[in-house]
Amino acid sequence: MKMVKAIIRREKENDVMFALEAAGFAAATKIPVHGRGKQKGLVAEGMVYDELPKLLIMIVVRDEDVEKVCDIIMEKARTGKPGDGKIFIAPVDTVYTVSSGKKEL
Ligand SMILES: Nc1ncnc2c1ncn2[C@@H]1O[C@H](COP(=O)(O)OP(=O)(O)OP(=O)(O)O)[C@@H](O)[C@H]1O
Ligand SMILES: [Mg+2]
Repeated sequence: MKMVKAIIRREKENDVMFALEAAGFAAATKIPVHGRGKQKGLVAEGMVYDELPKLLIMIVVRDEDVEKVCDIIMEKARTGKPGDGKIFIAPVDTVYTVSSGKKEL
């Protein structure tokens, strides 16, 4: 299993979440975050905004579904401009489902 951690524009939340659900990936954790990428934020009206608001979506999926999930996120979150976000993928050892007490996703 892998954890897909996608940092996207906040205004893309609904598009991404609906598309993921439609493809069978309903379970997710979302956290509002602030961060900066290569451009180190934004300069506007004489102010430096070096940490821009983004949305972090975390989804744990089977290895074979990682590419599908990333493709959906990229298609729905992309504007083609800098700041569209990043996706980080990390290995997940074990998942416990608390209600059943089982090691299952
Ligand atoms: N190397 C990184 N490590 C951790 N978080 C990152 C990293 N790069 C980007 N982020 C996070 O992703 C968010 C969006 O980054 P952003 O889309 O600007 O990436 P980028 O690498 O600068 O690409 P682009 O050139 O398209 O802007 C940042 O606000 C930050 O929260
Ligand atoms: Mg950037």
